[in-house]
Amino acid sequence: MTVPTKTLPSGAELPALGLGTYDLNDGETADSVRAALDAGYAHIDTAEGYRNEAVIGDALAASDVDRDDVFLTSKVLAKHLDYESVIASCEASLDRLGTDYLDLYLVHWPNPAISLRETLRAMAELRDRGLVRDVGVSNFSAYQLSCAHHVSDVPIAVNQIEYHPWFQRPDLVDYCRESDTVIEAAAPLARTDVFDDDVVAELAEEYDKHPAQVVLRWALDNDAVALPRSSTPDHVRANADLDWELDEADRRRLDDRDRNRPVYDTRPATGRTTCTGSSSDALTGFQSQTALLSSRSTGRPVSADS
Ligand SMILES: NC(=O)c1ccc[n+]([C@@H]2O[C@H](COP(=O)([O-])OP(=O)(O)OC[C@H]3O[C@@H](n4cnc5c(N)ncnc54)[C@H](OP(=O)(O)O)[C@@H]3O)[C@@H](O)[C@H]2O)c1
Repeated sequence: MTVPTKTLPSGAELPALGLGTYDLNDGETADSVRAALDAGYAHIDTAEGYRNEAVIGDALAASDVDRDDVFLTSKVLAKHLDYESVIASCEASLDRLGTDYLDLYLVHWPNPAISLRETLRAMAELRDRGLVRDVGVSNFSAYQLSCAHHVSDVPIAVNQIEYHPWFQRPDLVDYCRESDTVIEAAAPLARTDVFDDDVVAELAEEYDKHPAQVVLRWALDNDAVALPRSSTPDHVRANADLDWELDEADRRRLDDRDRNRPVYDTRPATGRTTCTGSSSDALTGFQSQTALLSSRSTGRPVSADS
């Protein structure tokens, strides 16, 4: 398969197809990682919250693939965003994965209870120590992402967000593009929901492809990195079938299918506002705006760690 790549601030190349690994049990994780490596995937997405890093590490160690030929991403939980915990979480992820560096390390969800500046200072320290090559965020709104760009000493390379034909988030996507932040599409198949879309089904028939393949081709054509998850090795292999073209007019038909319908990121949309003040203003704004999206009693983000 031929997979395009995105060049990150470190100079590393991020493959535009990665294996998603959320919510797989140990046996499924091992089987899907093996199937993915055999099928030529060079990118695996995990998180400390997925509790599968050790199984992924074992599968990588048992494979013939060199560590440097796999792009490995992990994420730090929202409750671990103070300086010391970010460092400790990363070191623990490296230990479980059996590697001495991550290609990409992401803040899994924003957390208004912890200073964003402090979190990103820890991310910069990890980069300086060579433990991570690039850093980024996940599930950040345009406003939150702009605050991250304002207060970070290292480039914010990526925003991993829910993105599929039924949830296209034009304001957030525009801001990511303007700020040179690569979009990684989490839940790119909308957990199979979009397979029922009339146009997806019609195009699948027309191109003799599975709806999953149509939706993944669309994500890549819209400049996103897609992270499909599957517990079924045949599906893992099928999702790597990207050596075909979706006609430009058909891509636009899928662009028109947006329903603003998330499968997991159900927080209210916050529009295109970005942070324009000084760094300290930005941080305060980030915390007060994010607080609106959070549970007042616990200070924890609304959504779970998917
Ligand atoms: N940063 C975040 O907060 C966040 C949130 C959500 C997701 N993510 C990342 O994005 C990845 C993907 O998202 P997701 O896991 O929510 O769901 P998804 O990839 O949108 O959908 C997974 C579902 O699609 C099915 N599927 C996959 N390929 C298929 C195929 N070729 N034919 C038929 N069915 C197929 C799978 O079933 P089978 O198992 O039967 O194949 C599974 O039920 C995650 O694993 C994770 O790495 C990140």
